[in-house]
Amino acid sequence: MTTRVALITGGIGAIGSAICRRMANDGMRVIAAHHPDEVEAASQWCEEQIADGLQIDTLPLDVASYEQCEVKLAKLLSDYGNVDIIVNCAGITRDSSFKKMQKEQWYDVINVNLNSVYNVTRPLWNAMLENGFGRVVNISSVNGQRGQFGQANYSAAKAGMHGFTMALAQEGASKGVTVNTVSPGYVSTVMTDAIREDIRTAIVSGIPMGRMATVDEVASAVHFLVADDHEYITGANLPVNGGLFIS
Ligand code: CAA
Repeated sequence: MTTRVALITGGIGAIGSAICRRMANDGMRVIAAHHPDEVEAASQWCEEQIADGLQIDTLPLDVASYEQCEVKLAKLLSDYGNVDIIVNCAGITRDSSFKKMQKEQWYDVINVNLNSVYNVTRPLWNAMLENGFGRVVNISSVNGQRGQFGQANYSAAKAGMHGFTMALAQEGASKGVTVNTVSPGYVSTVMTDAIREDIRTAIVSGIPMGRMATVDEVASAVHFLVADDHEYITGANLPVNGGLFIS
């Protein structure tokens, strides 16, 4: 069986780590991309993985910079031979009611969460088509499906990610390349820890399952979509939201 090469952006973050570990445990060759400012954190993260018996490579990459992605991902392709799987997981929040939202809060979120999907996928896409195999999974959010007070920027970016998925799925379908979205609900991470406690409590009480998701539950959905034998699933938006939004 071919050893698949998987690139995960946001790879040393909470959800990204769980995805990397799940893929590495499955025998894939995994590269965790992280922000260039996080080199020290990334090397410590690698040591933790090695302690758990997992060999995961890291790549400093500013996903908001097309120029950087173009150069570094061309090198990645030549170093690894090919990249079979891309998980676009890098994301930030800059929550604010729209009446107070500053232009940096808008542009930072659109650049990191949405433009990154172009920046990272574009340099690797043609090789996937030529290889006749590829899996792209975009990590969106329940808030891209239903909106959220205080997240006009984030909801716009996350909805945009699934628009990208639906269009690109049609371009990859005849070439063995699938493109799907996973839309987590509220996941227990530092990102959701940052929500004011009273608001967080109100959010959790509105989740039919009465709890946030674990990172492993999200990783499991991604792992399902990238499997070699799931070629017929493309253009889908798989919710992992505990019933918070059902469409
Ligand atoms: N719905 C309706 N009105 C609301 C509201 C809500 N959810 N929250 C606040 N308001 C109202 C207040 O009642 C108040 O009304 P008045 O002006 O009439 O008194 C007004 O909005 C307050 O506006 P502010 O701009 O002062 O709001 P704030 O600073 O108190 O809070 C916020 C703004 C920080 C964005 C806060 O709403 C918030 O934290 N919202 C949650 C955002 C959220 O869910 N983020 C998810 C982060 S995790 C993630 O994103 C991962 C994922 O994919 C799910």
